[in-house]
Amino acid sequence: MTPEAPKPLRESAPLLDSYLTYFEDVHLPFTIPGHKQKSARLDAGLGAVVDSDAPLYGGLDEIKLTHGTLKAAEKLAAELWGADFARFSTGGSTHANQAIILALGKPGDRVAVSRTAHRSVLSALVLADLEPIWMTPEIDLATGIPIGIGVAELERALTQKPIAVLLTEPGYLGTLSDLPALIAVAHRVNVPVICDAAWGGHFGFSSAVPQHCLQLGADALITSVHKALPGYSASALLLAQGSLLNLDRIEQSFETTHTTSPAGAPLASIDAARALLAQRGDQLLTELVANINAFKERVQSNFEQPIFLYTSDFPEGRFDPSKIVLRAHQLGASGVAIEKALIAAGVRVEMADNDTVVFLATLADSAEDFEKLAEILIPILKTQASTPRPSATSLSWSVVPTVGTSMRTAYFAQTEMVAASEAAGRVSADLIAPYPPGVAVVAPGEILTPQILDGLATTKAAGVRIAYATDSSLASYRVVKR
Ligand SMILES: Cc1ncc(COP(=O)(O)O)c(C=O)c1O
Repeated sequence: MTPEAPKPLRESAPLLDSYLTYFEDVHLPFTIPGHKQKSARLDAGLGAVVDSDAPLYGGLDEIKLTHGTLKAAEKLAAELWGADFARFSTGGSTHANQAIILALGKPGDRVAVSRTAHRSVLSALVLADLEPIWMTPEIDLATGIPIGIGVAELERALTQKPIAVLLTEPGYLGTLSDLPALIAVAHRVNVPVICDAAWGGHFGFSSAVPQHCLQLGADALITSVHKALPGYSASALLLAQGSLLNLDRIEQSFETTHTTSPAGAPLASIDAARALLAQRGDQLLTELVANINAFKERVQSNFEQPIFLYTSDFPEGRFDPSKIVLRAHQLGASGVAIEKALIAAGVRVEMADNDTVVFLATLADSAEDFEKLAEILIPILKTQASTPRPSATSLSWSVVPTVGTSMRTAYFAQTEMVAASEAAGRVSADLIAPYPPGVAVVAPGEILTPQILDGLATTKAAGVRIAYATDSSLASYRVVKR
């Protein structure tokens, strides 16, 4: 007996259905968007890019949102994730982070923030005029990678009376803090816990992957539907619980910071990803993890030393088994050189630095894709392998910031450019981050120390892109004027 074909997602996804219906019907739009889905008449290339775009207003729903289609889809998402509140964003986790952070408190309030926070969290703190109490991640001695925030570190931060705790879970390399313990500590003093789970959209839908943070008791979850889930670029979900957070304020700041012309495709893709998880999440995630395990085993069998991160490297539930993190240092190879060889063979990876290469695998990858990747990767690794070396703890995880002035003060201050040789001891006006992971090595208002300046120069020389510095060559730095 052949297995029953899965039902088309549009049957249980109202926004996906309205997107598809829009293109099945005939329209004569005298509304935005200006391409009117017929700009191919002006140029085939332009048409290829824009003619499959339908807006929410006057596309997936009427201009007056008569059918409440977006609301219906968001309600289904709230139900699936077990949340009191859900909003779909076309502005990525960047926007979702900004929306929730703007809704937390009043200017001058403090928030406890993991130093592994994405730059969108830092920019939101500037917008909301909140002061960070930085929490430094613990580094796993065996693998040299950050494994989240320790309970003692959160307890230290809580003594400074933050109004909320902002965590990045999972971290960029797939590790997680002991979330139940952290949430219990914060909730003991009624402080809400907000998880930037940009990379964890698939969590909670199979026992093959960790639970999502709302299942573990957190108060809000932000995730990018275009990262671990098969969503449209920059599609994201903001989910929240109302016991410690003010949902009306979140709604208000979500609208304040979101576009008034959301594109329909990202919204429909969030709805479709939600329906996919509800319908087949468990089966697809179980298959994905099995395919990844088989892939790792096949590549690993060519080498003696462990060359990937494994769930067994971490306590139960503290590593995402769908993450493929290659430890180039264990091969004595350069992650950046491996990336170069992969690009030449037509493979793009999510991130590579000297010690690490991260491959993003999702529900969209088939067993054949992993076989192909193994066939390409194994000879590259064999060619590049030499003597294993210990991992150098990445600059992104090892800086303990020295604050010169508040982030917001530095953001609005008069600034000047100084030569790199003159920059030590000056207050940075820029946020500077190797990208990926986009974790700030220095934030506005923090002192440029020799460790940071040397570390940035070395990281850049190793072939990593240094993002957001005014002078990307790092010959000079933008600092606050004395
Ligand atoms: C932890 C984290 N949060 C937020 C973001 C921003 O996500 P988006 O690209 O969806 O705006 C990223 C992007 O890489 C991220 O790594």
